[in-house]
Amino acid sequence: MGILEGKRILVTGVLTDASIAFNVAKLAQEEGATVVLTGFGRLSLVERIAKRLPSPAPVLELDVQNTEHLDTLADRVGEQVDGLDGVVHSIAFAPQSALGGNFLNTPWDDVATAVQVSTYSYKSLAVACLPLMKEGGSLVGLDFDASKAWPVYDWMGVAKAGLESCNRYLARDLGKHNIRVNLVAAGPLRTMAAKSIPGFKEFEDSWPEKAPLGWDLSDTSPAARACVALMSDWFPATTGEIVHVDGGVHAIGG
Ligand SMILES: NC(=O)c1ccc[n+]([C@@H]2O[C@H](COP(=O)([O-])OP(=O)(O)OC[C@H]3O[C@@H](n4cnc5c(N)ncnc54)[C@H](O)[C@@H]3O)[C@@H](O)[C@H]2O)c1
Repeated sequence: MGILEGKRILVTGVLTDASIAFNVAKLAQEEGATVVLTGFGRLSLVERIAKRLPSPAPVLELDVQNTEHLDTLADRVGEQVDGLDGVVHSIAFAPQSALGGNFLNTPWDDVATAVQVSTYSYKSLAVACLPLMKEGGSLVGLDFDASKAWPVYDWMGVAKAGLESCNRYLARDLGKHNIRVNLVAAGPLRTMAAKSIPGFKEFEDSWPEKAPLGWDLSDTSPAARACVALMSDWFPATTGEIVHVDGGVHAIGG
């Protein structure tokens, strides 16, 4: 018996098979869950990637900036599964001007896009899925440690700080629905989102050296395992938490 046996899980954010969300979906299926995916933009690509999962998973369109997509999400997911026990938010985007050391010159419109897609969408997704979570469940988001200012991460760092705060407020407001809300703060991983950050190499060079446990930049499974664990019944009293899956870098000074 897997730790997600019988659970119904919605996974957002699959783009390629390097996406953290792809590994979450794969592990969730291996642990017994029924998985529904959402995809953004290149849906045919996401559908092709979905076929690489142990069992084919349906793909529904979701642009978190599109109100109609959000308003109809529960009905569309409801056509695939009769409820949800877990929801994974694995979505982030920032325009190029918001990344890479241009912090003092980024225009508000670009900051607004980064915050809407990467921060506010956590709340939007939670509210959109609420009608399907009548028996409670677990919401898990993907974070990058926002407790300090990093090189090049810039406004995405601010968006992630907002995500960490949003995580606490969602935990406050969804507790009465028996919904746990937690983040997994992963170390740097070579995904499409990471490749779009100019100067991401700075993280690649320093992280494996700094991490007490070492760090493999191409292995999304530690982060995915944490997401699966948080959606299982093994964290029944944990909410508003940030679980660091970064080889231990967050704990080390210097
Ligand atoms: N790669 C890393 O180093 C790293 C580290 C820590 C946390 N994270 C976080 O993990 C999450 C997933 O990123 P990833 O690294 O797997 O990269 P990825 O590029 O595979 O995933 C990012 C996803 O965001 C989706 N997305 C972008 N705009 C969207 C929109 N408007 N509506 C819906 N979806 C949209 C993309 O389609 C893509 O599937 C992000 O929140 C990211 O910040 C990544």
